[in-house]
Amino acid sequence: MDIRKLGLAAALGLTAGMAFGPAQSDPVDDTLVIDGETEITTRAKAVEGVPFDEVISGWHYRTDETREVEADSFANPGMLYVERGEEIWNTVDGAAGKSCASCHDNAAESMRGVGAEYPKWNAAAGKPYNLELFINDHRVEKMQAEPYKFDAADQKALVTFVKHQSFGMPVKVDLEAGDMKAWWEQGKERYYTRTGQLNMSCATCHEDNNGNYIRADHLSQGNVNGFPTYRLKQSNMVSLHNRFRGCIRDTRATYPAAFSDDLMALEVYVTWRGTGLSVETPAVRQ
Ligand code: HEC
Ligand code: HEC
Repeated sequence: MDIRKLGLAAALGLTAGMAFGPAQSDPVDDTLVIDGETEITTRAKAVEGVPFDEVISGWHYRTDETREVEADSFANPGMLYVERGEEIWNTVDGAAGKSCASCHDNAAESMRGVGAEYPKWNAAAGKPYNLELFINDHRVEKMQAEPYKFDAADQKALVTFVKHQSFGMPVKVDLEAGDMKAWWEQGKERYYTRTGQLNMSCATCHEDNNGNYIRADHLSQGNVNGFPTYRLKQSNMVSLHNRFRGCIRDTRATYPAAFSDDLMALEVYVTWRGTGLSVETPAVRQ
């Protein structure tokens, strides 16, 4: 079986018009246990201020087949990117002659829990940083290597690898650090602002129509705990800012640049909404 083809049917359905289907259905009642061993928290009581009683991972909104692929680490194509990320971790690059491992040794220890706390306030930069931004600065300063271009295959693999070291740990963002609250506010405003010819906000789809179908897609709460995520439809890892931009483009609006203040604010706010869900990276979606 070619698991990479599973999403094809869904992909073919995507050429039809933009309309919410009449069907409404609850997220699937199921438990995500990886390889029959590791239980993942895919439902958590929402923190105060989130407009749901419970935050639910996008995993519950996917088909049986897609959910099964994620539950089997051998079948999950995202695990190949974790492996590739480990190679990069151990490879010397840049004029300083160092690899990530030169300073951080074993990522399973040094990076355990780190990815669960991003985006994080960066005092030197005076703004929140995600792992992509952090790793780029770090490559330049500590390794004298080139920063990655947005969505370069190696960037996605290394971020996936670092995030995966926090697999199963709860997402938590520190809003007390620096100016994180102001960024959270800005992200919240962005979340509820309608854009594009279709005049839709994030909330139009992921709150008001949560549980409805849009074309072949069962609309989730739009949580980010599984990113970078393997998308069967694209046979590729998809970064968070790529997903944000895709969702904004679907409203027929021009979309902001990756890592722009606009999308960083959105990342702070949307990550916070999913507080308590396990890091699922690499999640599998259609
Ligand atoms: C020359 C040594 C050195 C190299 C090479 C290096 N790091 Fe670091 N790294 C550090 C130090 C020191 C810190 C902690 C202080 C800081 O943030 O600069 C750190 C911190 C980090 C953190 C943040 C931890 C946190 O708590 O938020 C991450 C993530 C990280 N490194 C990833 C990497 C990756 C990925 C690479 C390879 C691309 C890498 N590092 C290469 C020295 C290094
Ligand atoms: C026109 C409807 C629509 C709008 C508007 C929209 N999205 Fe989405 N979004 C989708 C669909 C469809 C999916 C794939 C199915 C799902 O997970 O809901 C998705 C998926 C996502 C996911 C991935 C969830 C997962 O579990 O992998 C995130 C994160 C997300 N959206 C965030 C946003 C944000 C932030 C905004 C506002 C900038 C937004 N979306 C606006 C339709 C929309």
